[in-house]
Amino acid sequence: MNERFQTAADGVDPARVPGRRLYNGLEMPAIGLGTFGSDKYGAEQVAQAVGEALRLGYRLIDCAACYGNEAQVGRALHGALDAGLDRGELFVISKVWNDCHAPKDVRASCERSLRDLGLSYLDAYLVHWPFPNAHAPGCDVAARDPHARPYIHAEFMETWRAMERLVDDGLVRSIGVSNVTIPKLARILQDARIRPALNEMELHPSFQQGELFQFSLDHGVQPVGYCPLGSPSRPERDRTPEDISDLDMPVLVQIARKHGVHPALVCLKWAVQRGQVPIPFSVKREQMRSNLRAVVEDPLTPEEMHALRALDRNDRKIKGQVFLWPGAGSWLDLWDVDGTIPGWNGYGPHA
Ligand SMILES: NC(=O)c1ccc[n+]([C@@H]2O[C@H](COP(=O)([O-])OP(=O)(O)OC[C@H]3O[C@@H](n4cnc5c(N)ncnc54)[C@H](OP(=O)(O)O)[C@@H]3O)[C@@H](O)[C@H]2O)c1
Repeated sequence: MNERFQTAADGVDPARVPGRRLYNGLEMPAIGLGTFGSDKYGAEQVAQAVGEALRLGYRLIDCAACYGNEAQVGRALHGALDAGLDRGELFVISKVWNDCHAPKDVRASCERSLRDLGLSYLDAYLVHWPFPNAHAPGCDVAARDPHARPYIHAEFMETWRAMERLVDDGLVRSIGVSNVTIPKLARILQDARIRPALNEMELHPSFQQGELFQFSLDHGVQPVGYCPLGSPSRPERDRTPEDISDLDMPVLVQIARKHGVHPALVCLKWAVQRGQVPIPFSVKREQMRSNLRAVVEDPLTPEEMHALRALDRNDRKIKGQVFLWPGAGSWLDLWDVDGTIPGWNGYGPHA
């Protein structure tokens, strides 16, 4: 018989971390750890961070096949499970990558993630991007898949049917979407037999996506916020000269000073108090520890929440250029900015 898994003395008791109830009755922690190494941190380093995060009290881990580290992360999960962590306390997300949207590939991809992670089920499985367009890891933003396609709802629903079968067959408990827009999510909700429980979307103070955020909540879809700190260490290819650095926004810095914390922690307090589930990435123990502690102590005041609301600059960091199809215009065509889903020729003549 295993001993109970011990949380580090300077960590956070997971029972103190707020939870979010999904429409299907399942509960998830209100903050988790991201595992995308951003080309900067290798698989072993990320896996080590996962092990440390579990000891610090994290129970939600955001994984994906395309992060290329699920086997290593799986070993870290198992280290904790073998040391007495109850599987029921963990909430593990994984995602099907764009080159596996064909229904038979969805199942194979899920089974591969389960094998790599060493789990018998996933708590949530997401369609990583709504486009079946693949590209080599780490490629330049100008790279294009010659077989790339726009969002075609009937095709997406074929993928979604395969996702639903994973729930039927007990491989996953919840299914969800990522990188969708209101027009796409509305159609998916209308045609789904099993509705998405999660919507993983970019969310940080300079990019609050108020309408999609509220639309998701209104339809019982829990927003999970990626790049919650504005992804300060994202790869060069995901940077443009106009990008704002969230952590340097003067109002945010001022609030952080008042609380005596790093601006990153204000982003996380704001995220959890607003109602999204942030999944900050870090491999550094002190960052992971302070990120988790931030959401169980010293909350922001209503006035501070209000001041942060005004920081929205519609500043999307992950623009997704590599997912464009031949015939599309700019990356804006990926995000349905006119409120409609553009087809093969995008929104029209190229700028
Ligand atoms: N669904 C999707 O399409 C999608 C897309 C992107 C990301 N994601 C998920 O979201 C997760 C997070 O996104 P992200 O890593 O791009 O962005 P992020 O969490 O906003 O930024 C992570 C970086 O912030 C820094 N940091 C973390 N904690 C800090 C602290 N307390 N103080 C100061 N700096 C701190 C670290 O930089 P240093 O390492 O330089 O210290 C870390 O690498 C990913 O790991 C992934 O799981 C999903």
